[in-house]
Amino acid sequence: MLFPLIKDVLSFPPDSRKLTVRGWIRTKRELKNLVFIELNDGSSLRGLQCAFDRDVHKLAGILDEAGTGASVEIEGILVSSPAAGQELELASKSIRLIGPAPSESRPGIPAYPLQKKRHSLDFLREIAHLRPRTNTFAAVTRLRSRLAFAIHQFFQRNGYQYIHTPIITANDAEGAGAMFQVTTLNLETPRTSSPVDYSQDFFGRKTGLTVSGQLEAETYAAALSRVYTFGPTFRAEHSNTTRHLAEFWMVEPETAFADLDDNMNLAEEFLKFLITTALEDCGEELAFFDTHYEKGLRENLETLTRSPFTRVSYTSAIAELEKNAGAFEFKPAWGCDLQSEHERYLTETVFRGPLIVTDYPKEIKAFYMKLNDDGRTVRAMDVLVPRLGEIIGGSQREEHLEKLQTRMTELGMNTTGYQWYLDLRRYGTTPHSGFGLGFERLIQYLTGMTNIRDVIPYPRTAGQAEY
Ligand code: 4AD
Ligand code: MG
Repeated sequence: MLFPLIKDVLSFPPDSRKLTVRGWIRTKRELKNLVFIELNDGSSLRGLQCAFDRDVHKLAGILDEAGTGASVEIEGILVSSPAAGQELELASKSIRLIGPAPSESRPGIPAYPLQKKRHSLDFLREIAHLRPRTNTFAAVTRLRSRLAFAIHQFFQRNGYQYIHTPIITANDAEGAGAMFQVTTLNLETPRTSSPVDYSQDFFGRKTGLTVSGQLEAETYAAALSRVYTFGPTFRAEHSNTTRHLAEFWMVEPETAFADLDDNMNLAEEFLKFLITTALEDCGEELAFFDTHYEKGLRENLETLTRSPFTRVSYTSAIAELEKNAGAFEFKPAWGCDLQSEHERYLTETVFRGPLIVTDYPKEIKAFYMKLNDDGRTVRAMDVLVPRLGEIIGGSQREEHLEKLQTRMTELGMNTTGYQWYLDLRRYGTTPHSGFGLGFERLIQYLTGMTNIRDVIPYPRTAGQAEY
């Protein structure tokens, strides 16, 4: 039998029922004859207060050992709490120490590192294996878990099939050239031949970790109409920012017979659904982040679910930025990619809310995007949100074989590895569109956490993969 979770215990009535709970000690307060232990098992932000009468039960020895961080089993009866701020407490009769956590260093075991009530996020990043024991990381984790499920709920309800696209791939979907290589060639001994003979490698060709499941998702959308992938994505970018990881999770829907407007509507509906889910089901977590990380978070999220996302072309967005060109480190000009300072200015100052920017110059977007009639811009869309900038990137895809081939040739791409992708345009081609939502950016947005490293259990960034 599994033990009850504290989340559930907290919803029971104070009916003196006998209970045994398990968890980790958060705090211990000792009065003359009373000892209070706050027990937390990660199931909710709130812990269960366990009150011990030290003398009667002769538990002093165990209670002394049971410090912050120790795992214990406590038995008692559930009663209403005389203390303010909580309804229930466990009038505790016995305690069993499952795993001690020393509060002072002992030979071979340094003291439990989470003794203080608050620790800096920088410090916690150095003990990534223990940070889920803190309120912040447990709350991030619960919210992340709920939202991962919401992603499936949204797409499954809307007729989308979940596709497991490969992690190891031979194609660089985004053409950004930031792939991690996967090889079984022996790198330890000096090479004799150059260039490298990849026919000798495991897959008989050069392969890497996927930067996007899109191209493979497109093949399934061309058969099942509506599909989505949701999985780990890898980019060997050295960008050391608060918004980039080398390993992150991306959600990518792909819809056949859909144009850019359909795609934008889907993205807006999807984001609003995710935010509504967080508001409805993660109230405790949002209240915590509102208090400790971003004042007004909940209200901002509520406003967002009610307001339509502004849609503006890249060309108009640049015009807006040029009106205030002096304010930027990077001068805005038609043809340049939007920098994060530009994205923030547009969402926070000009349009004051989420924004969908469309029709970017083809030079700054991926090869597969559908060319507009002007011959210079493509049917791209980026969803930008205040504070964070880009949260979604997507487009309508080029469904004409010749146009796609021309673009690939212009970009100097070798089309031989992409025959399978071009086949979609040879046999039963359709207009189709899709986008990618960075899952960690979503969690950043919902929690107000400023550093992306604090919304994923084990962040991978350049120089960081210890555990
Ligand atoms: O804009 P991106 O590069 O688009 C694609 O990969 C397309 N294939 C998506 C599609 O159309 N199916 O990435 C999509 C999103 C970004 O908007 C951002 O939220 C996130 O993925 N993202 C990252 N998140 C964390 N760390 C990184 N290094 C990221 N790179 C992109
Ligand atoms: Mg992008």
